[in-house]
Amino acid sequence: MRTPTSFVCAAALAVLAINLGACFGDSSYRQGSSDEPDSGTCAASSDNDAVRLALAPACEGCHVNGNKPFFASLAAFESGLVYDERFVKRGDPEGSLLIKMLKGNAPGSYAQMPPGQPYEQLVANGRVTMTIAQVEDWIRDLKAPPEPMDTPSPKEFQVRRLAADEMVVSLMDQLGLTLEDFVSTSNPDWRNRAYVVNWNKFFVWPGDWAPGISGEYVSDSRAPERYEALGGGNSLEYRKKNPMFGPSSGQALVQMSQAWCGRAVDKQNNKAVLRYVTLADTSTKNPDAVQKNLRNLYLRMLGQPPTDAELKELYEQVYLPLEAQTTRLAWVGTCAALIRHPLWITY
Ligand code: HEC
Repeated sequence: MRTPTSFVCAAALAVLAINLGACFGDSSYRQGSSDEPDSGTCAASSDNDAVRLALAPACEGCHVNGNKPFFASLAAFESGLVYDERFVKRGDPEGSLLIKMLKGNAPGSYAQMPPGQPYEQLVANGRVTMTIAQVEDWIRDLKAPPEPMDTPSPKEFQVRRLAADEMVVSLMDQLGLTLEDFVSTSNPDWRNRAYVVNWNKFFVWPGDWAPGISGEYVSDSRAPERYEALGGGNSLEYRKKNPMFGPSSGQALVQMSQAWCGRAVDKQNNKAVLRYVTLADTSTKNPDAVQKNLRNLYLRMLGQPPTDAELKELYEQVYLPLEAQTTRLAWVGTCAALIRHPLWITY
């Protein structure tokens, strides 16, 4: 093979020095024998993996996610770049767009990768250790793609955050809430009124959904503002969805989860949160009902049953301390905690 392990290790070390994130995907960490006691080497699992790890410092900044996530994992690298004939022609480095991009003379809109900084310069300053000649050698010797390339691999399962619209719609459904819980739709004149009836209920609503389009419907501008904080999208204002889950979406979701769980608990005859208990049941008076309800709520909110350990944690760390104040607070807090669970936020 033209990719000796020693040079791979050196490349991997350089990667680690700059960005620990380079050692990811299918590779594993090993303790290194370098001068820095803490640094690990990133063991490449194959020649292709070695090239992935070697190029990563120059590329992963822009290609770990987004629409060209070549460096998200070895599988992404192989299926998206290595075995895509548009970029790499097996046995023909001169004809491969990847090489042209590294050399900065690719036809099309993107002549050079990384944009703005010649790859050779990165080699010269030690940011990457694999030279273009070595990448060419690798392409010349490139093996045929592994057979099951097209088979979906459960290991490569990728998640994304729920979009704001999915959060609003699914949360209303899960908590047994309807529009009426926030705005007074039963009043025949409701569309012409400012919806102050149920004001202060932390209404979160897209600015471009009904009710909402006219300034009158959106009498509380906080409703669409919260929605935008949650990740939004507002086509009327030409604002795109934010695909990240950052501090503002986190903050909006914390407040929304608490307020909406509160409404769900307080709503008459709503079994969404209080299915097997009432607020009169406590962990001392009716421990079985409390456990059963916790288990049910977990399943309802997260779509899978809790393990005993998770249930215990939820009970001891969230439910019990709040129950010491009131059972209402305990159920609101537990419900809200589940909404902030990674399993709830992601899809
Ligand atoms: C500073 C950001 C950035 C860095 C670093 C970067 N790229 Fe890109 N790359 C882009 C952008 C932007 C595009 C084009 C937009 C898109 O399709 O996502 C792109 C597109 C590509 C494409 C597809 C071109 C096409 O015709 O569809 C390849 C292949 C690619 N990059 C490879 C690399 C490699 C290999 C590296 C590292 C040597 C690298 N990129 C580093 C930003 C970057």
